[in-house]
Amino acid sequence: MTKIAETAFVHTSSYVDDGAAVGEYTKIWHFCHVLSGAQIGNRCSFGQNCSIAGGVQIGDNVKVQNNVSIYEGTTIEDDVFLGPSCVLTNVTNPRSQVVRRSLYEKTLLRRGCSVGANATIVCGITIGRYAFIAAGAVVAKDVPDYALMVGVPARQKGWMSRHGHVLANPDAEGVMTCPESGLRYREEEPGLLRCLDLDEDAPLPEKMAVGSVVYDELKQK
Ligand SMILES: CC(C)(COP(=O)(O)OP(=O)(O)OC[C@H]1O[C@@H](n2cnc3c(N)ncnc32)[C@H](O)[C@@H]1OP(=O)(O)O)[C@@H](O)C(=O)NCCC(=O)NCCS
Repeated sequence: MTKIAETAFVHTSSYVDDGAAVGEYTKIWHFCHVLSGAQIGNRCSFGQNCSIAGGVQIGDNVKVQNNVSIYEGTTIEDDVFLGPSCVLTNVTNPRSQVVRRSLYEKTLLRRGCSVGANATIVCGITIGRYAFIAAGAVVAKDVPDYALMVGVPARQKGWMSRHGHVLANPDAEGVMTCPESGLRYREEEPGLLRCLDLDEDAPLPEKMAVGSVVYDELKQK
């Protein structure tokens, strides 16, 4: 049976198949298709022309822009952002003649990560918490928490704060401060960045959850 929460909104041009679940206050806009077995959490939004395959699990407060297909094998944790027309995949070596329906590879998008417009995620990898994939990047390897990944193939260019600012200018103790939130970060060991003030799995306090300054104004030189 289809379980669409009473507070959810599904535009009349979209289909939610029997056996799919859509959580409270989630919005599904025009021309989307949610297939049987897909599980979508609360307060998510899906822009125009999105497809969510059976078996996909999506957490809460996930924001998906226009033209995104989320294929079987994908798990998306809370607070993930998928930019317009980004591409997820589920078979590394697709061949039309060879059926690999039981071999879909797993891709995990961890809490709070963002995937930029038109980026491609090659399947079988994990994108870490609050990692940031730049527009147009092609990511084919696991990505650490908070890593900023740019280019084709994507390379780590630095660290991005939970609020989406490049972290720069470490002090004598290696601490870098987000110019928007004031939250402090430090690389605790090579390749492992941690927020010193807010646990990665803690929710963002409400007063920190609305942006008020555009990116360039806060850019650290
Ligand atoms: C990556 C990003 C956050 C900017 O990071 P940044 O470090 O502030 O980048 P800058 O603007 O300072 O550019 C630094 C260099 O990287 C290049 N660059 C910036 N974005 C890039 C991208 N997406 N891919 C490749 N190179 C990029 C710039 O051209 C510049 O190159 P140069 O040093 O040779 O001049 C941003 O460009 C981006 O991709 N944001 C995602 C936007 C998006 O998809 N939004 C979706 C919601 S609508």
